[in-house]
Amino acid sequence: MYDFRIDAADKAGLWRELIEAADALTASEPDAIANMANVAALLFEALPDINWAGFYRNVGGELVLGPFQGRPACIRIPFGRGVCGAAAASLAPQRVEDVHAFPGHIACDAASRSELVVPILAEGALAGVLDLDSPMPGRFDAEDEAFCVELAQRLEGRLGAMENVVSKG
Ligand code: SME
Repeated sequence: MYDFRIDAADKAGLWRELIEAADALTASEPDAIANMANVAALLFEALPDINWAGFYRNVGGELVLGPFQGRPACIRIPFGRGVCGAAAASLAPQRVEDVHAFPGHIACDAASRSELVVPILAEGALAGVLDLDSPMPGRFDAEDEAFCVELAQRLEGRLGAMENVVSKG
């Protein structure tokens, strides 16, 4: 049984504990799907005020739904569409304070009001994106973004497999 006690009093402490737990959970497992599943579960359990945490994978140049926690979500997202597609196309984190004001935002859960998406790399190429959604407007700040990027970097190569990235059908 994994029983990570994540109970830090402040946001930085919470993210530090989360990143250490995610690192420990994925360190000796080569299967990217298993690692994404555990990291999604960890984030969903530990982060307050979120209603979705999970991954979209780069499968042949299209984002395809990966392991997640939350309500069922849209399955395929072209690069450049919505917040996830913007992160995939630009390879840059996307932090959206009000999703209703984001052109092309894809509403998977009508309750979602703010969103943070960071690219996940494997061997320097885009393996997918990590997506966090919240029912609170402006839930994610620059500190959340920086820690999320740090998490993605720490887990590079564990959450994405190059065989998914290459061929297009
Ligand atoms: N809102 C995202 C789609 C994914 S769901 O939020 C899980 C977007 O605009 O890319």
